[in-house]
Amino acid sequence: MKALVWHGKEDIRCDSVSDPEIEHPRDAIVKVTSCAICGSDLHLFHNFIPAMLPGDIVGHEMMGEVVEVGSGVNGHLKKGDRIVVPFTIICGECDQCKRGNFSVCETTNRNKKMADKVFGHTTAGLFGYTHLTGGYPGGQAEYLRVPYADATHIKVPESLTDEQVLFLGDIFPTGWQAAVQCDIEPTDTVAIWGCGPVGQMAIRSAVLLGAKQVIAIDFLPERLSMAAAAGAITINPGEESVKDRLNELTDNMGPDKCIDAVGMESHSQILPEHMYDRTKQSLMMETDRPHVLREMMLMCRPGGVLAVAGVYGGVLDKIPFGALMNKGLTLRTGQTHVNRWTDELIELIDEGALDPSFVITHTEPLSNGPQMYPTFESRKDNCIKVMLKPEMEAA
Ligand SMILES: NC(=O)c1ccc[n+]([C@@H]2O[C@H](COP(=O)([O-])OP(=O)(O)OC[C@H]3O[C@@H](n4cnc5c(N)ncnc54)[C@H](O)[C@@H]3O)[C@@H](O)[C@H]2O)c1
Ligand SMILES: [Zn+2]
Ligand SMILES: [Zn+2]
Repeated sequence: MKALVWHGKEDIRCDSVSDPEIEHPRDAIVKVTSCAICGSDLHLFHNFIPAMLPGDIVGHEMMGEVVEVGSGVNGHLKKGDRIVVPFTIICGECDQCKRGNFSVCETTNRNKKMADKVFGHTTAGLFGYTHLTGGYPGGQAEYLRVPYADATHIKVPESLTDEQVLFLGDIFPTGWQAAVQCDIEPTDTVAIWGCGPVGQMAIRSAVLLGAKQVIAIDFLPERLSMAAAAGAITINPGEESVKDRLNELTDNMGPDKCIDAVGMESHSQILPEHMYDRTKQSLMMETDRPHVLREMMLMCRPGGVLAVAGVYGGVLDKIPFGALMNKGLTLRTGQTHVNRWTDELIELIDEGALDPSFVITHTEPLSNGPQMYPTFESRKDNCIKVMLKPEMEAA
């Protein structure tokens, strides 16, 4: 089959590889009809997250048709079912899964020892996302093996298109979870850093959850326009001071709730700060650039909440922890507990309250994936979200 394969920094190729097979009774094989490139894939593209190996198949946003099931799937799935595959592989049985903390499933990471060493405890196995999270082949491919398939799936109604439901596996619940973590009150101003696909979902979620005012921050005009279309007030840090503008919009109190939808590769307009992080990152003395985290801690209204959806990989420097502590801020974070949110999000799509397909700017054949990574990375051609279709013919 054809699949997008990681060969090293900024080197993703569409290779011919062996078709996946059932390896365990709880496996299923899915014929992928649609998949997408996520902002998290860019961290792999830039080689910022360790433990990728040349030959690894990437991709963790995918859906398709079940073509084979193992004997242990026990009727939870059958051939012909149409499913979205959550990026977190879950057993459905461990203590964390029972609590709905799916992204920290205790069973599915087959490289637990490595994760224990790096994070103190293992987290769930993830598709296409380094050997630290199990080294499972990803879904930017014609076929995917889904381990623990009896639990690791989202059945979707036939009446909804791939474009409408694909993002139930990652960015939609990610934006939603961040907004839910903010415990939004009708009097709240919610500020969201990053208007990529995750930020866009967080903006719409915060609006749906009843925030008084939603403020969206990003450097890219086309992403700010998309945010404004959802009702957000926008700030471009390249053109104005984030601090001054946030104070102006909140009677100098600061936003009640802040969402980080940027993560480890944030840019700072303050040149010495940006140079500091870039240099430390290149010398491997710091793994992530935490500009947005610093800014949120300093800008948030005392007593407020910071929800961090952006991915961080390791060790961060110059974090104003004193501001966080003395202002009594609450910090919430996590990879998304995807399946925890499925039912309510399908309902929102079904009733037309939020159609996640608005975020797609590019639909391409899977074989064009190697060109679409740099297009998404450089935001060329106003690219916001790339959907890839294995069955589409290359032009
Ligand atoms: N928690 C989860 O489970 C989960 C799931 C999916 C994605 N993510 C993470 O969410 C983050 C966003 O993903 P995405 O797909 O939207 O990626 P993306 O790269 O398209 O978006 C990031 C956006 O942040 C903007 N940005 C950079 N520096 C900024 C700053 N200082 N202030 C404001 N905006 C700034 C960029 O211009 C860009 O638009 C990534 O870190 C990704 O890994 C987390
Ligand atoms: Zn993702
Ligand atoms: Zn589990």
